Amino acid sequence: MPHPYVLLSAAVSLDGYLDDTGPDRLLLSSPADFDRVDEVRAGVDAILIGAGTIRADNPRLLVNSPERRAARLAEGRAEYPLKVTVSGSGELDPAARFWHTGGEKVLYTTDKGAERAHALGIAADVVPLGSGLDWRRLLEHLHAERGVRRLMVEGGGTIHTQLLTQGLADELQLVLAPLFVGDAKAPRLFGPGSYQGGRLRLVETRPIGDVVLTRYEPTAPGTGPLPTAADHHWLALACELAAECPPSRTAFSVGAVVVAADGTELARGHSREGADPLAHAEEAALAKADPTDPRLAGATVYSSLEPCARRASRPAPCARLILDAGVRRVVTAWREPDTFVAGADGAGVLEAGGATVVVLSEHEARAKAPNGHLLDG
Ligand SMILES: NC(=O)c1ccc[n+]([C@@H]2O[C@H](COP(=O)([O-])OP(=O)(O)OC[C@H]3O[C@@H](n4cnc5c(N)ncnc54)[C@H](OP(=O)(O)O)[C@@H]3O)[C@@H](O)[C@H]2O)c1
Ligand SMILES: [Zn+2]
Repeated sequence: MPHPYVLLSAAVSLDGYLDDTGPDRLLLSSPADFDRVDEVRAGVDAILIGAGTIRADNPRLLVNSPERRAARLAEGRAEYPLKVTVSGSGELDPAARFWHTGGEKVLYTTDKGAERAHALGIAADVVPLGSGLDWRRLLEHLHAERGVRRLMVEGGGTIHTQLLTQGLADELQLVLAPLFVGDAKAPRLFGPGSYQGGRLRLVETRPIGDVVLTRYEPTAPGTGPLPTAADHHWLALACELAAECPPSRTAFSVGAVVVAADGTELARGHSREGADPLAHAEEAALAKADPTDPRLAGATVYSSLEPCARRASRPAPCARLILDAGVRRVVTAWREPDTFVAGADGAGVLEAGGATVVVLSEHEARAKAPNGHLLDG
């Protein structure tokens, strides 16, 4: 099920704190950065914060610039992004500014929390998600029921930590403020947990007044059947590679990337690479990896099309090459149709060999695009 693109945004002190312990909110950002945040807000469909931040800061979470709001309206969007919050307890102040400013509001909560929120008269669409709060379900719901494609998450630390440790953040926008908090009781940006992002990819650094914005993307593949944000990035790259294949009337155009568990790209390839008219993408990619590289055992192969199970042109199909390389996780965008081989079941071969196969059909249209001339209809 598709998720929105999830962008985490936070300002942090040099010693890693989000706030101090005083009654007022600590101003970490510079005025110029508040304007940048306003611009980011204007570009998203929804903004999410945790109940703890509503209680601590009583924020409005608006787009402050009238020009940016006018531009949203001119594009046929709501004047303000949807405001979203999460609370397990439902213990929220019905008079908080969050509920009474800006556009529509949604509260995701538990069944118990929903009862409490209704009793308190919280002015929002209250969505109970059962006995606990599952972030994947929340993101699916926002995408399917609220049309949210781009979600900005503005903290606090409890929320950021969960989204990163569950591999659900697509991007991290961190503003480093030149001051120290120095109080161990103050809230930290990131808590303990087993983080799934691997070594993050640095996308941008930008000084803004006396603060520095850094933007990162997670790189590490997921570890099981549940896709992470990084899985989507790598599969999107495989689909881009598919579009670079020399055209053919007799074979599919496919792209493949091999990525180690820590997010290091080990190899990439595409169909008919290097003037070999028979080369398959996964085969071309694996041929570039060192077969003795121990990282292959923990690696994921991203292939825009399900790896082949049988082929006439070579002794081993790609599903077998992947298993022989030691790889045990494959992410793909669509299952091979019967165009060239009837009943091909590369996923079945891989699974029989102990590999996990994840199909992310959100990428199917892009994976099929360079193959339109080979498909029915
Ligand atoms: N510098 C910045 O950029 C920035 C940004 C935002 C916040 N902050 C600071 O961060 C502090 C607040 O952070 P925080 O970590 O205490 O609060 P938070 O992350 O905003 O909210 C935590 C609350 O959200 C709910 N929640 C989170 N995960 C949940 C789950 N899986 N299931 C059910 N409920 C869940 C719970 O609400 P219930 O307790 O109601 O169950 C939990 O207490 C404040 O001091 C604020 O100033 C700083
Ligand atoms: Zn193949």
